[in-house]
Amino acid sequence: MQDKQTQIISMFDSIASTYDVANRAMSLGIDRAWRKEACRLAFLELKKCEDIVIADIACGSGDMITSWIHNAPKDTHIKHIYGYDPSQEMLKVAHEKLHNLSTSTIELIKGEAKALPFEDQSIDILSISFGLRNVLEYKQALDEFVRVLKPGGIVVILEFFKPQNATLLQKLMGFYTSKILPFVGGIISSNLKAYRYLPQSMRDFVSASELEGLMKERGMRTTLLKGYSANVATLYMGVKS
Ligand SMILES: C[S@@+](CC[C@H](N)C(=O)[O-])C[C@H]1O[C@@H](n2cnc3c(N)ncnc32)[C@H](O)[C@@H]1O
Repeated sequence: MQDKQTQIISMFDSIASTYDVANRAMSLGIDRAWRKEACRLAFLELKKCEDIVIADIACGSGDMITSWIHNAPKDTHIKHIYGYDPSQEMLKVAHEKLHNLSTSTIELIKGEAKALPFEDQSIDILSISFGLRNVLEYKQALDEFVRVLKPGGIVVILEFFKPQNATLLQKLMGFYTSKILPFVGGIISSNLKAYRYLPQSMRDFVSASELEGLMKERGMRTTLLKGYSANVATLYMGVKS
C-alpha cells in the first residue's frame, strides 16, 4: 500500500507547478466559494474567537490556508495555522504563495495524514479539502484528526466523495467530473495520466454518508453535511464532544 501512496504523492509533486491554474479552470473558480462557506461556518460553529489553532491537512498549494485567513471574522484571532502535506513540491508552491501573508502565523510541515505531528487535543479547527481521497490509510487519518482536536473542536472535510443514488442532473455532473475535468486538467498540466486519477480516486473512495458514519464511530457529532453543484463536492463538518 505504501508503494501506491508514494506514487500518488509523486504525482502531486509532478503537477504542483500547474496545480492552481488547472484547479481554477476545472472548477471555474467555484471552489473558492465552497472554501469560503466552509471557513465561515466553521468559525461560527467554534465557540471561541481567541488564540485559535488551525491545522490544514493535505494543504497542497495553500488555498484553504488563504481562505481561513481571509474569512476569519473581525473579532477572531488566529494564533497559528499549520499547513501539512507530504508533497515537497506542493509545499514549495504554498510557501511562495503564502509568504506575504502573516508568516509568523503560518507553518508548513511535510508529512502524511496517517501520522500527525501534533499533540493530543491541541487543535481547534482541522480542515482537509480535496485531500482525504488521496490518503489510502484514511481511517488511520480520521483517528488522528480526532486525537489532535480539542473537545469542542471542529473537523471540516471538503471532498469529491463516491457518488450515490445519482439524479439525472447528478449523472450529468458526474460525466463532467469524470470525462471533461480530467481532460482540462490533463491539458493544462501536460499530464493526462495524473488527471485521469481524479475520477478513479472518487470511485475508490467512500460516499459522504459512509464518511459521516466513520466520523460518528469516532465520537464526532455532525453539524453539517451539504452537497454543492449537484453533489459534485460535499462539505462535512463535525464537532468533537
Ligand atoms: C487535490 S490536492 C488538494 C490540495 C488542497 N487541499 C486544495 O484544496 O487545493 C490533494 C493533496 O493531498 C496530498 N496528499 C496526498 N497523499 C497524502 C497523504 N497520504 N496524506 C496527506 N496528504 C496527502 C497531495 O500532496 C496534495 O497536495
